[in-house]
Amino acid sequence: MNPIQSLVKDLADKHGRKRESLLPIMQGVVAQEKYLSELAMIEIAREIDISASEVYGTATFYSFLETEKMGKYVIRVCKTITCAMKGKNQVMLTIQNMLKIKLGETTPDRKFTLLETNCLGWCHKAPAMLINDDVYTELTPEKVREVLSMYMKENHVN
Ligand code: FES
Repeated sequence: MNPIQSLVKDLADKHGRKRESLLPIMQGVVAQEKYLSELAMIEIAREIDISASEVYGTATFYSFLETEKMGKYVIRVCKTITCAMKGKNQVMLTIQNMLKIKLGETTPDRKFTLLETNCLGWCHKAPAMLINDDVYTELTPEKVREVLSMYMKENHVN
């Protein structure tokens, strides 16, 4: 068994082999590997018995699909309508100014990658973003600055 196979198997043992297990398994692979390779997607499809295109579709929807290794912390800002109406642009600008990168880029020290994603299911507390697996909601420029400063100093709680 290659390392990806055993990683996917361990994650499936932990999260189950149902449709709902797909997202946590993908997140687990990304947490370990920093990206979701084609090999990993095929392995996930095989392990939970769905089609590879379904895994691919979900990965694309949530912007997990990266061909390159990403930064240690991957920021995914929700771009869907509620967040868009509630200040997502301000959130994005604040992050870009702090990290000096644009959407889709990774900082030169490979610490942060900035992406957008579709609805994270936190619309009632929009705007929302994920940093790796951790969700941050009701974001304002001030709150974003606070959260990012913690990550920049590496003393965030998780
Ligand atoms: Fe952003 Fe739903 S629209 S979390």
